[in-house]
Amino acid sequence: MKHLYKPGQPDHPVLFMLHGTGGDEHDLLPIANHIDSDAAILSVRGDVSENGMNRFFKRLYEGVFDIDDLIMRTDNMVAFLTEAAQNHGFELKHLVAVGYSNGANLAGSLLFHHGAVLTKAVLMHPMVPRKDIILPDLTGVLVLVTAGINDPLCPKHETKLLVDMLSEAGADVTLHWFAAGHQLSAEEIDTVKKWVVEHA
Ligand code: MLT
Repeated sequence: MKHLYKPGQPDHPVLFMLHGTGGDEHDLLPIANHIDSDAAILSVRGDVSENGMNRFFKRLYEGVFDIDDLIMRTDNMVAFLTEAAQNHGFELKHLVAVGYSNGANLAGSLLFHHGAVLTKAVLMHPMVPRKDIILPDLTGVLVLVTAGINDPLCPKHETKLLVDMLSEAGADVTLHWFAAGHQLSAEEIDTVKKWVVEHA
């Protein structure tokens, strides 16, 4: 998987950055540096191309995911993370996933299918990866969900459903709403920074 890795200072997290549809591994670097300039950064590029736009898994059409592909790519991501941890000398428990949109959906899918493989995750404008499974035990997993009240891609009820599903599985979930659509705002990034600094 195409990615970049920047080593960080000891006792700082490894920020695991996952871009939105059409992005790449460079997209979220300014955000990662803003969150914690001493953190290590592992930033990945989705290896699905949808008309030239990078994604982390296929979709049938907007908002409807190809579940078989989602499962396969989520499994691949676990294998990638395990290898990256060995190659770069960090522990998975030091990862803080920070995903936006399609990247948030892949990070959510890691929690849905592999439980506490991520122990900290920031999901910015996420959707529910799938509604037809019972989630694994997420006790001890910390999640920040950020969402826009006028997001055409992620309706409010879907954000609430995601928070309920993660909470019922035992995750400790914080939800922050912003007066925004699907775009990220400076206020939102500051909220993410504060949460990461407090919890990493
Ligand atoms: C997805 O396909 O993951 C969501 O619709 C968000 C996006 O378009 O990236």
